[in-house]
Amino acid sequence: MLERVGLADMRAWSRAERARGRRIGFVPTMGCLHEGHLRLVDRARELADRVVVSIFVNPLQFGPQEDLARYPRDLARDRTLASDRGVDCLFVPEAGAMYPEPPVARVVPGAPADMLEGAARPGHFAGVLTVVAKLFHLVEPDVAVFGRKDFQQAMLVKRLVQDLDFPLTIDVMPTIRELDGLALSSRNTYLSTDERRGPALALSRALRAMEQAWRGGDADPAAVKRAGMDALAAPGVMSEYCALIGEDLQPVTRATAHTVALVAARVGTTRLIDNVVLGEGIGADPRVA
Ligand code: PAJ
Repeated sequence: MLERVGLADMRAWSRAERARGRRIGFVPTMGCLHEGHLRLVDRARELADRVVVSIFVNPLQFGPQEDLARYPRDLARDRTLASDRGVDCLFVPEAGAMYPEPPVARVVPGAPADMLEGAARPGHFAGVLTVVAKLFHLVEPDVAVFGRKDFQQAMLVKRLVQDLDFPLTIDVMPTIRELDGLALSSRNTYLSTDERRGPALALSRALRAMEQAWRGGDADPAAVKRAGMDALAAPGVMSEYCALIGEDLQPVTRATAHTVALVAARVGTTRLIDNVVLGEGIGADPRVA
C-alpha cells in the first residue's frame, strides 16, 4: 500500500492512475478505522480499480467545545487495517498543508444543514462539505463511498456534488453494527464498559421502537417519534432528538417505508447518533430474539 502525505503528490498519483484508464474509488475518513469504514473500502473496490482512503481529522468541522483534541488517533493500526483490506493508497494530509491559514472561501450549505446535527453542531456541515470538496479536488475520484450512519452528511455530500457539478458519483452504504445493535463509530472508544453495555444501546432500541410503532400502523410522525423518545428515556442517557425525514432531508408528514428515523443522544460525555430506514429496520435484537 502506498502512502501519500503531500497534496500535490496525491493528485499526481491519482492522475497517473486515471491516465492508465483506471477508475479511482475514494473513502474519506477521520481514521480510527473500524469495520464500518472497511465495508466502504470493499464497496469502493467493487466500483473502481484503485481505492484511496484518506485519514484526516478535520478541525473545521469541530465546534470549539467539541472533541477535536481527544478524537481517537492510531495511524499505525489504521495502516495495517487499510493495507490488509487491499487499499491501494492511504492519503494522510497534514493539517498545516490542508489549512496553511484559516480558509477565506468555504462551502456554505443551505437550510437542510441547519437542522438535526447542524442545529446541535453549528457550522459542522460547512466544515464537512468544505473538507470533502477539498479532498475531492485532491483525489479526483470517479466514485466516493459514504456511510448511511451519518445520513444527513451523506445526503448533503450528494447535494454538494449535484449543486457544484463535481465530476463523480456518490455511493451510500448501510450502517454496520455490533451484534447487540450498537452502530460502529470511532467515538464508541470513549464509552466506559458500563456505558457500552447499558445506556449506549438505547439508541438502537429507540430506532426499533420507532420501526415497531410504524409497522404497528402508526404513520403519524409525532406518535412514531414519541415511541422513540420513550425508549431513549433510560438511565444514563441524555436524549437530544428523534426525527423522521425523507431523502430530501425534509421532515415527513406521514411515515412510510422510505422514511428515515434518526436519533441523537449523549451517554456520559459521548454524543452518539444513529438512524434506520423504517422499511428496512436494523434487525432483531439478539438479546430478545
Ligand atoms: P468518519 O466519522 O471517520 O466516517 C467516515 C465514513 O465512514 C463516513 O462516510 C461514515 O458515514 C462512515 N461510517 C462510519 N461509521 C459507519 C458504520 N458503522 N457503518 C457504515 N459506515 C460508517 O464522516 C467522517 O469521518 C467525516 O465527516 C468526513 C466525511 C471524513 C469529513 O471529514
